[in-house]
Amino acid sequence: MAEIVILESSEEASALAAQRILHHIRAKPGHNLGVATGATPLSLYRQMASYAREYGIRIDGVTAFALDEYLGLAPGSPHSFHHALLEHFVKVMGLDPARLRVPNGVAGASGEVGAEFEQEIRGAGGIDCQILGIGSNGHIGFNEPGSSLASRTRVTMLAEETRRDNSSHFSCLKDVPRYSISQGIGTILEARHLVLLAFGSRKARAVAAALEGPVTASCPGSAIQLHPSVTVFLDRDSSRSLSGLDYYTQSWQNQPESPSWRFAR
Ligand code: PGA
Repeated sequence: MAEIVILESSEEASALAAQRILHHIRAKPGHNLGVATGATPLSLYRQMASYAREYGIRIDGVTAFALDEYLGLAPGSPHSFHHALLEHFVKVMGLDPARLRVPNGVAGASGEVGAEFEQEIRGAGGIDCQILGIGSNGHIGFNEPGSSLASRTRVTMLAEETRRDNSSHFSCLKDVPRYSISQGIGTILEARHLVLLAFGSRKARAVAAALEGPVTASCPGSAIQLHPSVTVFLDRDSSRSLSGLDYYTQSWQNQPESPSWRFAR
């Protein structure tokens, strides 16, 4: 079962997630980190930078692999995930931009882009730790409901719910791309450790389905149940629909010792 950590606020949960991930990076400075975009990990990235500074953890050997990218947007487009990761991850962490790898969203909808990105991940030795958000419809990456649990990096079509959720970043819904290149669910499951974050009541239904529902392509997030090493960080609102909420909260709060990855501050 996943390690489930529930805090009152998204800030507190992000602080612990930052410690969890830096614990991995400290153990392996040449770390391959899978990075997600969207609103969810923004505080995580800021807090990772701050803890790394405070604890003298070297992060300059980290190579970041994006989870997904819109298809049809140039890397320089302010709406591309490449741009978002440069702004919110690379710059914040003080990394060399050459250490960010993103699937090429302008190369045309060819199967080769996905295969090339997979090759790049494999060539680097695989992803050590993959950061994930979850969509309100249960997607991880842009693997929308119905995606094969064995899928690889490929072109995917965005669900209308996802386009609506993401439309606030564009001037109108019509401008939100219809396709992406996304790491597949099978690709994600090959990372050595998964860290999933979800905040806000809008995610409560997807979180309950992913953690407690059946493993099904109808909820791509449920695939994390197949992975042996997962940590999930939730705030109070996103955890509300979990039937085991009291149990998870008590197990976390009543641990005799802090987990080994928690930093003293
Ligand atoms: P969000 O998106 O972080 O902007 O909520 C998460 C996702 O869709 O995977």
